[in-house]
Amino acid sequence: MRKIIIAGNWKMNKGLAETREFVSSVVYALINIRSNRVLPLIAPAYPFLHEALRERGGSALQIAAQDVSLNNDGAFTGEVSVSMLASLGIKYCIIGHSERRQYHGETDSSVRVKMLKLFEQKITPIVCIGESLAQRDADQTSGVIISQLNGCLSEIPLVTGTEIIIAYEPVWAIGTGRTATPQQAQEVHALIRKWLVENYAPAVAENMPILYGGSVKPDNLVELLACEDIDGGLIGGASLKAEDFLAMVKIGSNN
Ligand code: PGA
Repeated sequence: MRKIIIAGNWKMNKGLAETREFVSSVVYALINIRSNRVLPLIAPAYPFLHEALRERGGSALQIAAQDVSLNNDGAFTGEVSVSMLASLGIKYCIIGHSERRQYHGETDSSVRVKMLKLFEQKITPIVCIGESLAQRDADQTSGVIISQLNGCLSEIPLVTGTEIIIAYEPVWAIGTGRTATPQQAQEVHALIRKWLVENYAPAVAENMPILYGGSVKPDNLVELLACEDIDGGLIGGASLKAEDFLAMVKIGSNN
């Protein structure tokens, strides 16, 4: 049975003191939400990963990076490598987020290379895909999703289905307050799972967590999680408040 993953993508928000405060209060509250059913995770900005990891101690709260470099090491000013993340003890890393694609030239093929590098260090990639509003309006959603899956996962070995987490994030729903309806999200999640059956194996499709992202909040999470193929959320805005994050973790643990 797949776990529910409540993943907070903090983007460029929160400094050191706020990160520390959030993690310590969430770690404390998680003691009372002990559940094997839910995996809570946050992705703070790079400079605060170490402090977040230190503050989480042995808690169930996992810490992820928001991106990683394509390169191993050397003259790449401003970049952070996979081995650097591994040296911190990071176990998860978001790649291919639409904001990286839009502002920083991320493509399906760079996502693919990052994924292979993360595998080498046993860091689980959270791979983001999703269509733009223009693509949805032009009825191109399925084609875009399939093409992103083909591009990101080309010749990527998946055996158990737990090697990666997929996050379906329709670009038009990110930060807009305009969530996809549960039906719209479920349709794409089912398409992704079908693609996994056809391109890998039923077990890979069955085991892979597929998260929905785009204006998820405590108010709409219940109906999203009621969908058969939605295994959690990649959450921006609503993950910044410990109270809302914990409310969503609770919803996940009761699902
Ligand atoms: P949002 O962001 O929840 O603020 O829409 C989601 C994301 O970008 O991952």
